[in-house]
Order: sequence, then structure tokens, then C-alpha cells
Amino acid sequence: MSGNWGRNLRLSIFGESHGAGIGMVIDGLPAGLPVDEGQIATEMARRAPGKDPAATARKEADKVRLLSGVYNGKTTGTPICGLIENTNTRGEDYGNIQTLARPGHADYTGFVRYGGFNDIRGGGHFSGRLTAPLVFAGALARAFLAREGVEAAAHILSIEDVRERPFRAEDLTGNKLKKLREMSFPVLEEREEAMRQRIRQAKEEQDSVGGVIECAAVGCPAGWGSPFFDSVESRAASLLFSVPAVKGVEFGAGFEIAAMRGSAANDALCLEKGQVRTKTNRNGGINGGITNGMPIIVRAAVKPTPSIARPQQTIDYRALEPAEIQVQGRHDPCIVLRAVPVIEAALLLALTECALEIKK
Ligand SMILES: Cc1cc2nc3c(=O)[nH]c(=O)nc-3n(C[C@H](O)[C@H](O)[C@H](O)COP(=O)(O)O)c2cc1C
Repeated sequence: MSGNWGRNLRLSIFGESHGAGIGMVIDGLPAGLPVDEGQIATEMARRAPGKDPAATARKEADKVRLLSGVYNGKTTGTPICGLIENTNTRGEDYGNIQTLARPGHADYTGFVRYGGFNDIRGGGHFSGRLTAPLVFAGALARAFLAREGVEAAAHILSIEDVRERPFRAEDLTGNKLKKLREMSFPVLEEREEAMRQRIRQAKEEQDSVGGVIECAAVGCPAGWGSPFFDSVESRAASLLFSVPAVKGVEFGAGFEIAAMRGSAANDALCLEKGQVRTKTNRNGGINGGITNGMPIIVRAAVKPTPSIARPQQTIDYRALEPAEIQVQGRHDPCIVLRAVPVIEAALLLALTECALEIKK
């Protein structure tokens, strides 16, 4: 059952891009957690389309209707259902993909997997729109983790070949991460214009670009997570790879750690004001699948938007004939900016799953 995730925090996602609505059922959060609908709306607005020229022209309010599990502004402890109605659908944009598979998208695989019964309008259940419920659930996870002293935020590390610096120790305070979350285009350096330029250029050329998002969580105590299948990395990666268009995930020094010597890759343990810390953080705050008290650092590679306007070679998957496709409709030339709060949500939800395991 691909729509369900988690053991302690149980998520169930539903909906299609151009159906009546999309949403999430969240079970496992404790009773009495304050639910700030304004805060949820702020998070949803960070992901919503139509707010930035670098993103899609489709405008959606993305208002979450809380159907259950919240009473007098607090969680009841029973399943929480958040529904987001689809208000701006243009099914006709997808007329020419009835049988032509968009390269890089899930039209062909979805057709095979569901025997042709899947709702193809706007990508159906495979649409990036399904990340809205993740952001909703992430907002609740954020509220839960705030009580534990955890803060998480992400920045755009690269767009195409424009790259800025990764997080440094001085960026990793709760207050600085909070400020990052308030930025409309979250970057650590002055690379916004160069990144936007790449996005504009790709759009002009009827093409798209991808990029890397780096996310940090601070304030996690040592001892969250378990070895093997329930490691912090396994749980976070499973949610991060659930995000459409994420094709790579790495923690700490990531793939670069493979080229290091042990003496460089090892994070020397030390004591700071009686607290166990490490001098460096090449392991991204995780050893043996368990948090070590240092910031959790994760990066996600987001591919270029598959739906591009320029002609591409494909097949008609019903007739099994070669074809050419020119994708119509309102597609982001780059989905990295809109994916930032989604990546944060994925990490927050994975950490909530780990925290709830300890509290059992
Ligand atoms: C926030 C967000 C928005 C997206 N918007 C689009 C879009 O406008 N057009 C498109 O073709 N793909 C978009 N995608 C990506 C597709 O949903 C994704 O590439 C597709 O489902 C295939 O899955 P895969 O790339 O993980 O293999 C978006 C993804 C995210 C996270």
C-alpha cells in the first residue's frame, strides 16, 4: 500500500491533481498539541503555485480544511484529516497526453502499474501537487518538534550549475534557520539573481532546470532513531524519495565522504560546556542510524521539471507507436523553489517518527 507510511506517526495520503481534492490522514500525534491554522497556512503558501515568477502560473489557494482530530485549537489524539480542495484545474491542458507518455514523467509507468485506470489529468496521483498534503503534515510535525526544541529549514544549494556554499556551523542556530524559512527565495549567499537567471533562460528555451536543496534540523537530542531498517537515514530517505522529482539524497558529507580518509571523515568527539559534541559534522548528525546531538544535514537532488514545451521523442503507450510530444499546460520551469518546504516537511516527519518511538 504505497499511500501509507510510518509506524509511530502514521501517514495516509490521498487524491489526484485534478480530482475533487487531495489530503492526508495523520495518526499518532499526541493529544493537546496546539494547532495554529495561521501557521499551517504560512507553510502551505511557501509551497503553493502562482506566487513566484520562477514557478508555475497555476494558482491554488491550498487551504487546508481540518475534517477531524482537532478540537478547540488542539489535537485530540485521534486521526487528523486535512483536506485541500482542488480549485484551479484545467483538464483540457492534458488532452494531448491521453496516450503520449511525457518523458521523465509517470504517464507510462502509471499506465502499466494501474492497467490504464489511473487518473491522468495533471499527472493524477503522481502530480507534484500531492506534496501539498506533505507540507500540511509537516506543519503539524514542526509544531510537535518545536516542543522538543527542534527547528528545521532548508536553502537552495544549487540551480543547474549555479552553486552556493553549503551550511556552515554558524548558520545552524534555531534563529538563523527561522529567518531562512521566512525568505521567499532561501539562499545563504547572494546567488538568487544568478539562479533566477538560469530558470528564466530555461523557460525561454522551452526547457527546465533542477537543483539541490540542503536541509538542516537543529536541537535533536542524541538517541533518536534505531539501527538498520528504522535508522534516521532510512526513515528520512524513504520520505524524501517519496517526493516526486527527488532523484538523490545524501547525509552529511554525502557522496564526498567516499573520497575522504578515515581521519577526515571521522567526527572527533569533544565536550562543550559538559555536552557531547563533535568537532566536525561529516556524518550529518547520525551514527549507526541514531542522532548524535549534532545538526542533521541532508541534501536532496531535484531533477528538472519533466514537462517541457520543446518537442521530444516518445511513444503512444496504447498504440505502441513512436510519437513526438510537445507538452502543453502550466508547468514550473524549475520546481526546486517550491520543493524547499516539502523537503523540510519530509525531514520533520521522519524526525517526529523517531521522537515518537522514544516516547512510547
Ligand atoms: C512541488 C513540485 C511541483 C512539481 N510540478 C511539476 C510540474 O509542473 N510539471 C511536471 O512535469 N512535473 C512536476 N513535478 C515533478 C513530477 O511530479 C515528477 O517528476 C513525476 O511524478 C515523476 O516522478 P519522478 O520524477 O520522481 O520519477 C513537481 C514536483 C514537485 C515536488
